Amino acid sequence: MKILVTGGAGFIGSNFVLYMLQEHPTYDIINVDALTYAGNLENLKSIESNIRHTFIQADIADVQQMENIFAQGIDVVVNFAAESHVDRSILSPDVFVRTNVMGTQVLLDAAKKYQITKFLQVSTDEVYGSLGPTGLFTEETPLMPNSPYSASKAGGDLLVRAYHETFGLPVNITRCSNNYGPFQFPEKLIPLIIARALNNEAIPVYGDGLNIRDWLYVEDHCRAIDLVMHQGRSGEVYNIGGNNERTNIHIVETVLEQLGKPASLIQYVQDRLGHDRRYGIDPTKLQTELGWKPVHHFETGIKETINWYLNHQDWMARVQSGAYQDDVKLQYGKQVGDSDV
Ligand code: NAD
Ligand code: TYD
Repeated sequence: MKILVTGGAGFIGSNFVLYMLQEHPTYDIINVDALTYAGNLENLKSIESNIRHTFIQADIADVQQMENIFAQGIDVVVNFAAESHVDRSILSPDVFVRTNVMGTQVLLDAAKKYQITKFLQVSTDEVYGSLGPTGLFTEETPLMPNSPYSASKAGGDLLVRAYHETFGLPVNITRCSNNYGPFQFPEKLIPLIIARALNNEAIPVYGDGLNIRDWLYVEDHCRAIDLVMHQGRSGEVYNIGGNNERTNIHIVETVLEQLGKPASLIQYVQDRLGHDRRYGIDPTKLQTELGWKPVHHFETGIKETINWYLNHQDWMARVQSGAYQDDVKLQYGKQVGDSDV
């Protein structure tokens, strides 16, 4: 089986590539990533010489580049490639629409033309909007995205659905809650806390710190995608989450405590615009249909994650200094985003 993984140099995509190569010794992976600021080839260092993994720097919104890749023969597409940070989407929505909506449409066209056997769209619970104090997101919850990020992800999801309904393309959409684990870019809450706390810098907590996210260890997400890819009923949406809701302030306090850093580093700052109050996933469909359940509990998962960052301070330092993109410049020439490209 030849799997096209897009966005496989990012946080979840790189964890997925490593997971799949280990779990499925006969599969080949074509890993396509534009290497934006969020793409980091150092995440894939351990498989540098693995001949079952081929990395191609390309943009999913580029029709010709995608055409060339699909023409090599692809069985399954798993689409992680996205602009993924809500705060950035508030500042620059345009690139979110380009990658998350138009890029998805380019991939869908190629998938249709080359008759792939499954297109799996990796989406997010954020497309459902924000919950009040009770209730959970099910697959039937109406889409009510509030940020340009979640709106662009919802746009991508609706195109995936439409290609199934109109053209019979075999698809699945997964909608997972917030992930944590190794290789997460330190703009996201948990690695941001770790990076800043290790430097004794203030930890910015938006608003009252009581917004709730439903946290899942990244490997449990990868296992769910693997299951849906193989056994998901075509056309179906599957929510992914581990029933693990925590307030942001609880997350901050937990991480600071484990790092032995003082709570005085916490600094309440102005709230994020349109800040969703609460996310909570009902994963019953995935559990009952496909037998999935999370392996990692938050208490152990967060300890392992903190230890990973403590043991990989070189990785963090190279991300923070920008050095992680140097090798790419040498290997692949100019960067996407370079002013004179
Ligand atoms: P990330 O930002 O760490 O990685 C995204 C990757 O996509 C990067 O490697 C980037 O270079 C690549 N990319 C961006 N634009 C591209 C383009 N035009 N063409 C090719 N590659 C491009 O994101 P992540 O946190 O790993 O999220 C991966 C996917 O999972 C996203 O689709 C996101 O919406 C979804 N998701 C994330 C979470 C989470 O908590 N991080 C939760 C649920 C769903
Ligand atoms: P984030 O990791 O950006 O994920 P998302 O917005 O996709 O859920 O943020 C998680 C939560 O933490 C969210 O409620 C915003 C909050 N947050 C802070 O309070 N401070 C920060 O510096 C960041 C990055 C996030």
